[in-house]
Order: sequence, then structure tokens, then C-alpha cells
Amino acid sequence: MCGIVGYIGKRQASEVILKGLQRLEYRGYDSAGFAILDDDMKILKIKGKVDELVKKDKEEMTEGHLGIGHTRWATHGEPSEINAHPHVGASGKFALVHNGIIENYNVLRKDLEKKGHKFTGETDTEVLAHLIEEIHDMSDIDFFQAVQQALGQVKGTYGIAVVHKYTPDRIIIARKGSPLLIGIGEDEYFVASDASPIIEYTKKVVYLEDEEMAVVTRDGYEVSTLKNITLTKEVHELAMNLEQIEKGGYPHFMLKEIFEQGGTIADCMRGRLMVAENRIQLGGLEGVVDKIINARRVVIAACGTSWHAGLVGEYLFEYLAHMPVEVEYASEFRYREQLVDERDVMIVISQSGETADTLAALREAKRNGAMVIGICNVVGSTIARETDAGVYTHAGPEIGVASTKAFTAQVTVLTMMAMLFGRQNKTLSDELMQELVQELKTIPEKVEEMLRNTDEIKNIARLFTYASHFLYLGRSYSFPVALEGALKLKEISYIHAEGYPAAEMKHGPIALIDEHMPVVVIAATDHTNEKMINNIEEVRARRGRIISISSDGQSDVDRLAEFSINIPEVHDCLTPLLSCIPLQLLSYYIAVNRKCHVDQPRNLAKSVTVE
Ligand code: F6R
Repeated sequence: MCGIVGYIGKRQASEVILKGLQRLEYRGYDSAGFAILDDDMKILKIKGKVDELVKKDKEEMTEGHLGIGHTRWATHGEPSEINAHPHVGASGKFALVHNGIIENYNVLRKDLEKKGHKFTGETDTEVLAHLIEEIHDMSDIDFFQAVQQALGQVKGTYGIAVVHKYTPDRIIIARKGSPLLIGIGEDEYFVASDASPIIEYTKKVVYLEDEEMAVVTRDGYEVSTLKNITLTKEVHELAMNLEQIEKGGYPHFMLKEIFEQGGTIADCMRGRLMVAENRIQLGGLEGVVDKIINARRVVIAACGTSWHAGLVGEYLFEYLAHMPVEVEYASEFRYREQLVDERDVMIVISQSGETADTLAALREAKRNGAMVIGICNVVGSTIARETDAGVYTHAGPEIGVASTKAFTAQVTVLTMMAMLFGRQNKTLSDELMQELVQELKTIPEKVEEMLRNTDEIKNIARLFTYASHFLYLGRSYSFPVALEGALKLKEISYIHAEGYPAAEMKHGPIALIDEHMPVVVIAATDHTNEKMINNIEEVRARRGRIISISSDGQSDVDRLAEFSINIPEVHDCLTPLLSCIPLQLLSYYIAVNRKCHVDQPRNLAKSVTVE
């Protein structure tokens, strides 16, 4: 989704901004642009990739030490140069970049049109640029006050950065619902929608909260509320480093991130899986474990891949801790009758920690008195900050739009939580705890082992590159993995794929099966395997092409499948951590064969900050 980067200092602003926009490409976008202030204000915009903007900049040779840039993911108005940001008002004095949605833009636009404003594009953002100018020109107020008053009329969400041609010593920024931070360098300052564009210059950041604004100059920054109360903000130290956000020799971030999973799962368990003491320690849940296990129920709310991790969590919590769990799409939860209250606990799962629907579900649950626990990857993200307690996944920055290492880290956290709660609840026996602790410890090396030989997966990918549909089937812990496998394939290769609980096949999808339908069967859990074998037979009888993911030693499954990929044997409840990996690779190789844009699939955004 849209990205913002701004700079004020001694460097050439265009260089910092263009590099920053390239770092923001992972969020997904369709056009880009920047404004640079020198003696004049220069604006360059393109439809398409940032590389085009780099080329345009080389031709135009923009100069200046202050500027703002943007990658746009279209919401209002098609992707085009005109609709790309920055936007300016009628006289071109103010330039504005914006993430989020101005909901009342139509009303504001009509009002401005009556006052003589003419609009060139269709975006909500252009309206805000005109509004700032109108307010500024009609009253005796300064640049900051004009932005402040304009925001007072706006309904919706925003993260904005604004510059003014005749005040070329400052950037004004403001946030409501769309993340923004200030990077503190030496005699230079940065603004950005996330830390990735500024990490190579500074690790010191200040996060803006909702309804906060700031003036950023060469000499410092001042943060206040929209109502003008000056604030003293905490300076945070970023934990990520530059290497983590570069490809490190891999052709795509997604492949790098798939191959990192041995390490990221180990990082996630470090200091938490106490092997010698046969226990789990989750510092972020200290003091709240009893409240969680005594809750009337646990509601897990998330979106997309994080929702799939939540489904695995449901099976784990029920099995190991005998806790009642419901897993909700965050987007649906918030519009349902709110029956969650102080007797319940909500767990929100989000890689980015910025997903608008998940954040809204969190706020709804809190409003109703429930305690909310977060499982987030991005340290300091809005969801991480707004939850009552939580556990970070420590998977490092995930740049590929398709989530991979964040998923396995989320499942690792949920597994450890279920074990912790199970021990506290006395539903998890000493023997099983010991077995799971020992097995969890070996997961990173098992992941590494699987990733050492990917030939069969590449072979299957080659054979099925041009399939039009895929079906993914699983039971028990493998059902959410089937959903996740199907999602990975659709999002990066654009092949239609559906995940189903294997037994549901008979209730409809079986009608689709013929000799052209590849069916990926995740048959990794022993306790449901007999039944899975029946499902495999049903697919075979209709000449469907079976690709199985099974644990070592499941020869019945291997015998029946046309292609089979083995994963190392582990306890059933740990299989999602392994069985998802061949599915990630299968989608990756198919997408590469189809020449798809793996890291930035069409229409998708990494962090979905609009509802
Ligand atoms: C799929 C994917 C999305 C995200 C979803 C939630 O590969 O990346 O489905 O999982 O948008 O995002 P987070 O976890 O950031 O809340």
C-alpha cells in the first residue's frame, strides 16, 4: 500500500527519496512521484515503477535538500501520472503526499469547486491539497496552522507530508490511522511511513500516534496534537539492519525469506523455549497468563495469512490447553454484533502491525472491555503499541508481499503460547510437554534439511506451470495449511486455487475434478491419515492429479500420489511449521516460471492500511 518518504538536511533530497521509494516498493504500488524544494518547487511523477522516476530525475536533474516522495496504490482514481502524488492546490504552492482515504472528499471537493477550485485528477488527496491552500490564502495563518485547520475538516484516515514553496525550511506531517515516523539523523531528518527507507541513515525514530502532527526542520522536530498540545515523544531505537532488507544474492525477497525460515523460527524461540527446564517463557505475557486461561473464550482476529496462522492456533489451543477459541476475519468481526466483553480475551495477529481491519477489531474489543494480546512482527507498529500485552515474532523485516517467514514465526509463537497455557491449565502432561519441547527445538534444522533439496518441487512446478486451477486439501492441522498454500499460489502466480477441509470435497468441489485438476493433498498428520487416504482415492477415481505432502514413512500416501514431497516426521501439532514450506516453494517456482512479479504481485499491497 502507499508509502511516504521525506527528507530535510544536507544531502540531495532526490537521492534519499528515490532510494527510499525503492525500499518502499515492497508495499505494492502503481505510480510514484516526489516534490523537491530549492529556489523553486519541482514535482516529478510517473505511472509505473520507481525506476522510471529515477530515469526522469536523471533527465531533469532536480536539485534541493528538502523533499517528499510517495508510492501510490490506487484507491480513488485509476493509476496514472495525474493521480500520482504529490498533489498541489490551484496555485501550486503546497505539495502533499498522503496515505489513507479522505472519506468526505466529495463534499469538500464540491465546496471548493463552488469557490473556484479546478481539479485535474480524481483523487481524494488532491482535494486536501486544495483545501490547505484555500484555508491558507483566506486567512492570516501560517503553513502549519493551515494544515491543522484543513485536517479539522477531514473525515477518514491519513498519514501526510506537506511542503510549502515559500517556507522551504520545513515539512509538516500528520497522522490519523496511517503510520508515520520521524528519523533523527545528524543535522538531517527523515519522515517515512515505515522504517525501511531510512534505516541506512539512522536508527533513531519517533513514532507519531493518531491525531498527532509535527514540524520537521533541519534543526529538529516538534510534535503536537491536532489540538495544539505540545508533546515530548520517546525516541526509539530500530532493531532492524540494512542487510535484512536487501536480497543477499537471492533473485527475490520471497525466496530469501523462505530460505531464512530455519533461522527465523530459531530466533522466535530464542530465550522462550527453555529446553533444559522443559518450559516456555514468554516475557510479553508475564502477568496476564492467568487472565487468558480463565477467559470465557479466546477470539483470534486477523486477515489473510495471519488469519490462517490463527486457525492453526485454534487447533493448538484446543488440543494442548483445552481452551475455547474462535477465529474471526478481523474485517467481519468489527461489523458483527459485539458480544465480546471483559470476560473474553482477543488475540490479534499481524505481520505488519498496521492492517486497518485488524486494528479496528482490536479497538472494538478494547472498547468492549476485553483484554487484547498481540502477535506482531514489526516492532513498534501500531497494533503492537495498542495491545495490552503481546509476543513479537522476531522474523525480521518481511519484504516480499507474500507472507512466508512471518507465517511460520506466527505459528511458532502460537505453539509456544498453547504449550504455556496447557501447562498452566494442567491439560498438557509432563510427557507430551517434554516431547514437544524436544521436537520444537529440532524444527529449525528440519526446515534447513528440507530446503537443501528442492529438486522435486521445481520439477512439479515445471509440470504444472500452466495449470488453470489448483485444489488444496487438508484435515486437522493441515487444513489451515491447505488454505495458506492456495493463497500463496493465487497471489503470486495468479492461478485460481482453493483450499478445503478434505472431507468437504464431497460436498461440492469434487465436481471440479478431472484429469486437468492438480490436487495438492497435505497428508502430514498421522491421526487423520486413514481418512486422507480415502480422499486421495476419491480424487484418483476421477483422474485428478495428486501432489502429496506427507511425513517421511507414510508410504501409503506416497504410493497413491502421482508426485510426493516428504517432510521430516514430527508430532502432528507441529506439522504446519514444516508442511507449509514446500507449498511456499511450489508457488514461488510456478510464479517464476510464469514470469510473474513475485515480490510485488499485481494489485497487492504488503501492509493493508485501508479498510
Ligand atoms: C498473504 C499476505 C496477506 C497478509 C494480510 C494481513 O501472503 O501477506 O494476506 O497476511 O494482509 O497482513 P498482516 O499480517 O500484516 O496484518
